[in-house]
Amino acid sequence: MNAAPKCRLGVLLSGRGSNFGAIQRAISDGDLPNAEIAVVISNHPEAEGLKLAQSHGLQTRAWDKSEFESRQAFDEAIAAALQADQVDLVILAGYDRILGNALLAAYPGRILNIHPSLLPAYGGKGMVGHKVHQAVLANGEAESGCTVHLVTEVVDGGAILGQSRVPVLADDTPEALAARVLAQEHQLYPRTIQSFIQTHFTQQEATAISP
Ligand code: GRF
Repeated sequence: MNAAPKCRLGVLLSGRGSNFGAIQRAISDGDLPNAEIAVVISNHPEAEGLKLAQSHGLQTRAWDKSEFESRQAFDEAIAAALQADQVDLVILAGYDRILGNALLAAYPGRILNIHPSLLPAYGGKGMVGHKVHQAVLANGEAESGCTVHLVTEVVDGGAILGQSRVPVLADDTPEALAARVLAQEHQLYPRTIQSFIQTHFTQQEATAISP
């Protein structure tokens, strides 16, 4: 039996939330035994991912950025909400905004993202969604994949925590490649979160209570 307190995840998403769904499934299947989802937050009140979260009975919050006078005020509101829900680790799961200082400073080294390429290749500002897969195909790459990394002020530039590779096929379209990569994302993200928690939370707890 594991009596250690669970690491409380705060998920930020903007769209369909299939990576969030994979993380939620891993928790229900016992594959992420040291985590629980404290809150799911979106900058798009209509995001499909929010509906999915609600269908699992999870707490959700959503704000449109037009309700705020500045990007910083928006990020401050999200940081305050995460802290109010006692979130330990922030999980970006298809969140379409670059994080400002208010969020980065509130969770230094405690924000993870997944990106649909083998970073550092095909990352950085503007390299999102199908643009990534189009560029991989245009360059005739033999393989692609996905990366889980720490979020810092450098877009897609934080430490790499895990990667999965997929082949690029001769007749690939951006859609077909995206689907092959996404299937890997759903495996990689829960697995990497579990090992991050074991390294940075569970052992710290154990160390803290050992005489
Ligand atoms: C994924 O491809 C992920 O790599 C990127 O955004 C997409 C989110 O998809 N950061 P979903 O909303 O999790 O289905």
